[in-house]
Amino acid sequence: MKQDILIAENLEASVTSSINNVRFDKLVVLTDTTTNQHCWPLLSALPVFKGAHVITIAPTDEAKNLATLSDVWMALQQAGASRHSLLVNLGGGMVTDLGGFAASTFKRGMAYINIPTTLLSQVDASVGGKTGINFGGLKNEIGVFNCARTVILSSVFLRTLDHANLLSGYAEMLKHGLLSNNENWYELLSFDLENPNFDQLQQLVAKSVAIKESVVNQDPTENGIRKALNLGHTAAHAIESLALQEGRTVLHGYAVAWGLMMELYLSVRKCGFSAKVMHQLEAFVKQHYGKFQYECKHYEMLYNFMTHDKKNQSGIVNFTLMASIGDICINQTATQYEIEEMLDYYREN
Ligand code: GLY
Repeated sequence: MKQDILIAENLEASVTSSINNVRFDKLVVLTDTTTNQHCWPLLSALPVFKGAHVITIAPTDEAKNLATLSDVWMALQQAGASRHSLLVNLGGGMVTDLGGFAASTFKRGMAYINIPTTLLSQVDASVGGKTGINFGGLKNEIGVFNCARTVILSSVFLRTLDHANLLSGYAEMLKHGLLSNNENWYELLSFDLENPNFDQLQQLVAKSVAIKESVVNQDPTENGIRKALNLGHTAAHAIESLALQEGRTVLHGYAVAWGLMMELYLSVRKCGFSAKVMHQLEAFVKQHYGKFQYECKHYEMLYNFMTHDKKNQSGIVNFTLMASIGDICINQTATQYEIEEMLDYYREN
């Protein structure tokens, strides 16, 4: 599963060369209403898009469903797309996931290119070949592993991203930092998120994506080490589920930041991870992301959400934990008592 990842010094040139590298009979661009308004105008005048057909879908995770997918298949059919056509996904994780799945299944599969426009999709969703939609109330329930031909990463889009979405993506970068090495970790901690230097951010994105790529290349279909990328996510998904139930809005990356705090506590407790590094993460997360509030009465619900996470088998909670920065322990379990201690620790600190 090989995909080219281009760090675009010049967005127009990178997009033009990536498209010209593919032989296709028809070019189709997938946008959502937000990227159609704010991102597509930056590219639409490029000669390479002359005659391209543009499909626009509703934004946000709520539209990442079978009805939208069916609309995209229909639009591809009406545009006369074939197995030899090329789909360019321009958007955040919802567009790259759904578009990647539409391309992978239309006429048994056509090529696609991702141009992720949010930090979260640049460092996570658009890279590594996970495509799909939500179904039956479950996230990413239907999908396939199939990589984009090329992923084009440009800081042009990050410059206009709102601060909350910048922070949301940065949480996945913190995760990659913990999975990699001290140098990367301390570089991430010292980056000025309140006053970002976008050239420096682009370099950090390139390093972050290289870490994800190296994990994915070792285990593309997540039978082993790719589970490292779930660090922080067992707790994060429980936080997101509780928030959803209570009608509170939580961006995915914020839940990941809080989930990392919780799971580093378990890492200290069970795998000998450094308490000093855990405190560094805690300070950074509290400063930038604040805290997710819950009470003791929520423990049972949070625990149940963790046992029902789709990464688990037979009701045993599966965590990815760390022994030290770069030393990953996959397939770790914890008892209900240990999980409640973790919830106590987070609530009280
Ligand atoms: N988002 C985690 C992965 O791609 O495996």
